[in-house]
Amino acid sequence: MNFFGLRRILATLVFGLLFFVAFAKLSAQTAAQPPIPTQIPGRNALLMGAAWYPEHWPESRWETDLRMMESAHLNVARVAEFAWSRMEPSEGRFDFVWLDRAIRLAEKHHIAIVLGTPTATPPAWLTQKYPDTLRVEPNGQRVTHGNRAHGSVTSPRYREFCRRIAEEMAKRYGHDPNVIGWQIDNEYGYSLMSYDEESRREFQKWLKTKYRTLDELNQHWTTAYWSETYDDWSEVPIPMGQHNPGLMLDWKRFVTYAWASYQQNQIDVIRPVAEPRQFITGNFMGYGFDGFDHYILARPLTFASWDDYVGSGHLDPDTDGISHDAMRGLKQENFWVMETQPGFVNWSNLNNSLNKGEVRAMAWHDIAHGADEVGYWQWRSALNGQEQIHGALVGADGEPLPLLDEVAQTGKEFSEFEGTFRGTRVNSEVALLNDYESRWAIDWQKHTAKYDQFAILKSYYHALRKIAQSVDILSPDDALDKYKLVVAPDLYLIPKERAEHLAAYVQNGGHLVLGPRSGMKDAFNALLPLRQPGFLAEELGAHVDQFYALEEAVPASGSLGEGEVVTWAELLKTTSPDAEVLLRYGKSNGWLDGQPGVVTRKFGRGRITYLGAVLSEKLVDAAAQWMAKESGVTPAFGAVPDGVEVGRRVGARGSVFVLINFSPERKIVTLPHPMRSLLDARDVPQVELSQYDVAILFEQKQH
Ligand code: GLA
Repeated sequence: MNFFGLRRILATLVFGLLFFVAFAKLSAQTAAQPPIPTQIPGRNALLMGAAWYPEHWPESRWETDLRMMESAHLNVARVAEFAWSRMEPSEGRFDFVWLDRAIRLAEKHHIAIVLGTPTATPPAWLTQKYPDTLRVEPNGQRVTHGNRAHGSVTSPRYREFCRRIAEEMAKRYGHDPNVIGWQIDNEYGYSLMSYDEESRREFQKWLKTKYRTLDELNQHWTTAYWSETYDDWSEVPIPMGQHNPGLMLDWKRFVTYAWASYQQNQIDVIRPVAEPRQFITGNFMGYGFDGFDHYILARPLTFASWDDYVGSGHLDPDTDGISHDAMRGLKQENFWVMETQPGFVNWSNLNNSLNKGEVRAMAWHDIAHGADEVGYWQWRSALNGQEQIHGALVGADGEPLPLLDEVAQTGKEFSEFEGTFRGTRVNSEVALLNDYESRWAIDWQKHTAKYDQFAILKSYYHALRKIAQSVDILSPDDALDKYKLVVAPDLYLIPKERAEHLAAYVQNGGHLVLGPRSGMKDAFNALLPLRQPGFLAEELGAHVDQFYALEEAVPASGSLGEGEVVTWAELLKTTSPDAEVLLRYGKSNGWLDGQPGVVTRKFGRGRITYLGAVLSEKLVDAAAQWMAKESGVTPAFGAVPDGVEVGRRVGARGSVFVLINFSPERKIVTLPHPMRSLLDARDVPQVELSQYDVAILFEQKQH
């Protein structure tokens, strides 16, 4: 071998080695950090957008709007979600030429497009020719044309039309470089169902697939009660008002199935045609909307999005935070705020405006909780139509409204700081559990009008978030092992499998805290033939002997603290010598007097705790302190004054903290150690925040 040959071999070896090292490093990085689907390759990691309706305006105006958007640092426009009559002006005749031009113009102004499928608003020619595609109200009346969400989700004919328009759009835009993704429908018709024979037959078909025999169904619903027994599938009604709890729960599951399959019907024609880089999402409505089981609808989506409106009043960081965290929990991944309030809405009791500075604070609050896009609804109000006087960024005269400057400032900040947020996610030690089926079932049988599940969840969220500064909200059936503490404020339905899953979490070292009413029912909404918490009573070493709806607050005290319980109290009884009573009731109805209300027990490598009552604020705080300490929960950031909210996003390079002052007073926050303030472009030991002020702090990872 000559010198050159040797050199070539050496060079190949060195090159090969370098390539191997680089590749190994890259794949280690990729393995540690799967790409975040809400951050679009080639675009800013934080995006700001608006809903834009070119079909409302003469084409000659489009460029002005897009130029204004661009100079306001908007880089996304969601379009077409109500434009069916423009895209298919008559049956089977499609016109996309106008939309092509709008998309190209947007591209010229560096505005990426999200296409909404227009299926929330079927055109008049369709509903006129095929009235069976219109929804029937529970009172038997078919809705008239001219509103939205008037299509029937269960109508096979309507689905066929939806599929066709979605497919035509996908064929046209599935490869468009400026189309980054898709939104299916709009808010999924608020989950409204059609109460017609077609729906009823579909429901009966669904039940048949689920139960196979009527004996099975009759047994699980205990239809011997009130002579409800069914001898033929066609006898099963759609429940109206208070009905058999088993039937009601299955109907809600059918509603979920109906909307999930309606969504899938469109995904099935978009996904095979659209390039994989184009995402598919749907715009949900936050935690408060429980029309269907969101975990099921979110499954086939690339990521979850939601529409974040305050309505009357002002942003409550907890109420809004719960929605963010619950929507993030749908896929346990960052999300988009597809729509948000440009100052005010038009549908609330009092459509007051958010204060000056509050819209910016709200946008950063979104980001702090894991949003990667914030989209304003809408850019400009149509001159006529139901939402004429909704807030917007541009007035009827086409000139900027006062809010546009604040949005532009926020958009500029998004663009400047996006790099720091690239690859970052929210990472929490504490999880709260959200189960739609339990929520429905409790709401149907509240037992006391005062039983407010949201208020209970919020009380724990508030107390725990103050301590941990980061909380996830998940389904009880999700993987829980990474959490130090898991709190289920009122998990009514705990079938055996779910109990096993939760027990395994405790066995492996987790701390599970169950609230009142937990473990009372099975998967059919039937009472378990067991004392609460049913299949988990053995692990707890205690059970509920009786529950009581309270007429008035009851004093309670113990090692947990001292305070009151309200609305609901359960009489607990320990069955194991190592079950520890943390709280006892004071004088009440005689039954509860002196009896245990909170019990905890070590089990496996972890702990299970049962809170048998709705605790007043003081006791919730004490309980949260105790559980956090017991579980070793640490704060994401460190001490902050009351009224300042902290959010943390973690990436490979370090953590970004977003601090927002929601209180009217000026606050000084001393940082645990100096951090880089992105807004000041320097390291700072403390920040001073007036109302709605935001601090964005970067803490480099220590190696
Ligand atoms: C919803 C809808 C939008 C618009 C806004 C108004 O979120 O998706 O089309 O109607 O409300 O607040």
